[in-house]
Amino acid sequence: MKESPVLIALDGPVSSGKSSLADAAAKQLGILHLDTGAMYRAVGLAALRLEIDPADEQAVINMLNAGQAQVEVRFNQGKQQTLLNGQAVGHAIRSQEAGSAASSVSRYAQVRRNLVLIQQQLSKHQSMIVDGRDIGTVVLPHAKVKIFICASPEVRAQRRYQQLKSQGSEVSYESVLRELEHRDFQDTQRNHDPLRQAEDAVVLDTSKLNFKQSVDAIVRIANEAYEKTR
Ligand code: DC
Repeated sequence: MKESPVLIALDGPVSSGKSSLADAAAKQLGILHLDTGAMYRAVGLAALRLEIDPADEQAVINMLNAGQAQVEVRFNQGKQQTLLNGQAVGHAIRSQEAGSAASSVSRYAQVRRNLVLIQQQLSKHQSMIVDGRDIGTVVLPHAKVKIFICASPEVRAQRRYQQLKSQGSEVSYESVLRELEHRDFQDTQRNHDPLRQAEDAVVLDTSKLNFKQSVDAIVRIANEAYEKTR
């Protein structure tokens, strides 16, 4: 009989380090990492490129219906490639603007429905860590391992601020904290599939952990969960 894929749902707020942690943990476990935020960012980028206001729901829906925001994900030697209308957008989706646009368009049910379907298809036959906001609650409610990453807003803002500073950006810590609190509000208060911890998720507070300790904790939680079912 064919073994079912290993599925790990990893949710958490903005700048909790989810994506980098998921990447490193996936490598250690020898499975893929699907970054679902990249897919919402691609839809946000599509709106920006067409000069559509991401806050205008009807305009975003019209864009989807016109087939102008087709998102695909491929894995190339284990690395995720996110495509928008057939073109790789790995770099362009990382801007602050694309992040804000993603936060807006991710509020709309139709956007979520389309992307959740793709995510469920991708994880049907491949073992992966899937990171996002609604993975344990909506995308993979039956995942054997669910982890909810958290860290205080101040710790997350400090990490983000250091990262931006090292990239030469001149933002202030206060503005980073304000933007992060705004994103937290949007992600947790939206009507459709808001960020929330699944009842059966293990909470991992990384406020006092360094990167390696956080990765090790994820790998340990995953191994323990699978060991239990052997
Ligand atoms: O993880 P990220 O910052 O790249 O995500 C970008 C935005 O997409 C974020 O504001 C919330 C949204 N998102 C979502 O609504 N559901 C997901 N599964 C992943 C991301």
